[in-house]
This record gives sequence, C-alpha cells and structure tokens, in this order.
Amino acid sequence: MITKVCGIYFSATGNTKKITETVAAQLAKDLGCPMELKDFTAPAARTEVKEFPADTLVVAGSPTYAGKLPNKILPDFQTKLKGNGTPAVAVVTFGNRSFDNSLAELVSVLTAGGFRPVGGAAFACRHAFSDLLAGGRPSAEDLAAAEVFADHAAALAEKAELPALSVAGDAAAPYYVPKGTDGQPAKFLKAKPLTDMAKCTKCGKCVPLCPVGSIDPQDVSSVPGICIKCQACVRGCPEHAKYFDDAAFLSHVAMLEQNFTAPKENAFFYAE
Ligand SMILES: Cc1cc2nc3c(=O)[nH]c(=O)nc-3n(C[C@H](O)[C@H](O)[C@H](O)COP(=O)(O)O)c2cc1C
Ligand code: SF4
Ligand code: SF4
Repeated sequence: MITKVCGIYFSATGNTKKITETVAAQLAKDLGCPMELKDFTAPAARTEVKEFPADTLVVAGSPTYAGKLPNKILPDFQTKLKGNGTPAVAVVTFGNRSFDNSLAELVSVLTAGGFRPVGGAAFACRHAFSDLLAGGRPSAEDLAAAEVFADHAAALAEKAELPALSVAGDAAAPYYVPKGTDGQPAKFLKAKPLTDMAKCTKCGKCVPLCPVGSIDPQDVSSVPGICIKCQACVRGCPEHAKYFDDAAFLSHVAMLEQNFTAPKENAFFYAE
C-alpha cells in the first residue's frame, strides 16, 4: 500500500514545478495519502542523497534540454535519487519543439536508481527561450490532462506486478543539435546573460535563482561559472534587466519561432 506521494522536480522557469505538483497532488488525492514536494533546482538541494521506501510513490519531473535531461543536472538525477523498488511516475516538459528522448532518459535513470516506473508523460509548456512557443501552457486543459494521467497512474502504482514501462524515445540517443535560421548548428555553448545596469536595482534576486550558482553575488552582471541557458535569471528578474545578445543563440530562438509555433500534443505512457 502506498502511504505517501513525493514530487521532486528540477524547474528553472516554473513549468516542470507546476506539472509535477499537479500530478503529485492528484495522485495523493486518489490514493488518500499525504504529499510532499522536493524542489531539486537549487545547487544546495542537490547535494544529499534522497532515499525512498517502496511504499512511497515518487513523481520525478524534469524539463527537456536539447532533447534529453539537462546534461549538467543528469548526474544528480543519477546519483542523488535512490529507490528501493519504489513506484515512480516520470514527467518531462518541453517547449513545443519535441521532447525527443528526455522521457526515455528519465525512465531509464529512475529504473537504474532502483525505482519502478508505472507511468510517464511529456507536457508541452512555454519554451524558456520564447513566449511564442507554447505561450500560456501549461493551460487549464493541460493541467486537467495531468490529473487524468495521475488517476490512471494511481491505479497502476498499487499493483505489485507490472510490465516494464515503455515510452517514446531512446535513452541512449545523442543530444539534439540546435540550429540557426540558416539551418546550420548554432554554437552558443559559451553564451551567458548580460545585465542592463540602467535597469538593475542590485536587488540580488537573480543570484539564488541560478540553478548552477553561477551569478556573482558581489556583481550580478558577472557570471563566472557555467551557464546552462535555463533563463531562470532572465525570467526571474523583476526589472527585466537580464538578456542574451549572443547572435547564435538569438538565431536559434528565431529558427524555433519560425518552425515550432503550431501547438504540440502532450504524450502519456503506462506500464500495462
Ligand atoms: C537550454 C534549454 C534547452 C531546451 N531544449 C528543448 C528541446 O530540445 N525541445 C523542446 O521542445 N524544448 C526545449 N526547451 C524548452 C524547455 O524544455 C521548456 O521550456 C520547459 O518547460 C522548461 O521547464 P521549466 O519551466 O521547469 O524550467 C529547452 C529549454 C532550455 C532552457
Ligand atoms: S534580479 Fe535583476 S534587478 Fe535584481 S540584481 Fe538581478 S539583474 Fe539586478
Ligand atoms: S546565469 Fe545562465 S544558468 Fe544561471 S540562471 Fe541565468 S541563464 Fe540560468
């Protein structure tokens, strides 16, 4: 019998948090048990190993980055979450291009970590790079679909014997190579956000928002550490002072806006 639901998510701009919370809350309601949420986004939240017993149902959530799990966070998903035959639900979000192989990778990582995935879903959500891509999603309709998904997964989670969960994608596939408007690979690995100091009030809010702890608290315009382009600082700055001006990055965003505005469907998979 499941006695607790635990939702755990990496979410730089809030979509994955919303989806994971919705799925976890509905599972807890269906199973009549308490829910706990763990935000796995800040560096400090990813230092300790979290172990889960077999009577907890875990909902693990991640965004899609370059068609897979965010590569800098992957090692933490692999080493910091330990199951003991723990039932799990895998959810990914994606910004209206494609979730490609992210859900398959999450299912694979959970299985290797001692979890027993019973369901998986991919939700089209506002792209971190542009409001023109799935802007306004997750919508009320998406959240209702997340609840229906949870209803189905709740029934499966209580079953002892289930076939292995099969989802779309290949966990071993390479990363998606972002393209520019010219169709060539857009190389923006080294791009970092700039700060408009005419707008910045030095409030410091962007510093703890950075999931890789890369913004200098003494000088927020300086990003000495790596930047994973997550947009947490850009979207989280109350003064809209943060922006990217890297030409290759902007060309990729323009390419996405030219080709991927038609609304994408969510996808659902069950171990049955
Ligand atoms: C670095 C980066 C790479 C991304 N790559 C993809 C992708 O390959 N396919 C896609 O559809 N969306 C992609 N997205 C969009 C995110 O998956 C989407 O906005 C997600 O919902 C963000 O989750 P969050 O709000 O929880 O941070 C990418 C976003 C970022 C920041
Ligand atoms: S959140 Fe914005 S206004 Fe505040 S310190 Fe950071 S860049 Fe400046
Ligand atoms: S500096 Fe880069 S990694 Fe840090 S919050 Fe901003 S976009 Fe994300």
